[in-house]
Amino acid sequence: MSKLHPIVGIVMGSDSDWPVMKVCAETLKQFGIPHESKVLSAHRTPDAALDYAATAQSRGMKVLIGAAGGAAHLAGVLAAKSELPVLAVPMPSKHLQGLDSLLAMVQMPGGIPVATFAIGEAGAINAALFAVAMLALNDATLAKKLTDFRVGQTEKVLSKTLPEV
Ligand code: RP5
Repeated sequence: MSKLHPIVGIVMGSDSDWPVMKVCAETLKQFGIPHESKVLSAHRTPDAALDYAATAQSRGMKVLIGAAGGAAHLAGVLAAKSELPVLAVPMPSKHLQGLDSLLAMVQMPGGIPVATFAIGEAGAINAALFAVAMLALNDATLAKKLTDFRVGQTEKVLSKTLPEV
């Protein structure tokens, strides 16, 4: 059986981002969203990153997710070349724990929007869930899956117990 055409593109600045971004791909997979994951860098492979963004819509993409650390310009560069919704996930960085990534991503100039999520795994999961929520607006089956996920999550939290002291 041929693989479905990806509609969400996860782009990360380095393969060192994959341990964090894996959970983003896994979350999309859990919802049955066809997606692809790529390493492209705003600084190390600028032409390829620009080309990826510029051709994304014509290749059938609906949402782009950009993950990068440090001087994290990748999501902004994707948004500069695409009118698709671009979600940004700041990677934890070696020296500033991702605060640099967060500020680089979130402070976009007016006119080129990027929706920035939390640093690290929480952001990676939430970017995927946000993509699901956007896609679910036009897909009743996906909307039902999202409702089921939220109900299941609520039940899991409510069933938690803490040790007696
Ligand atoms: C960024 O620089 C990447 O997104 C990564 O988070 C960070 C470090 O990259 P490596 O030196 O590990 O390749 O561009």
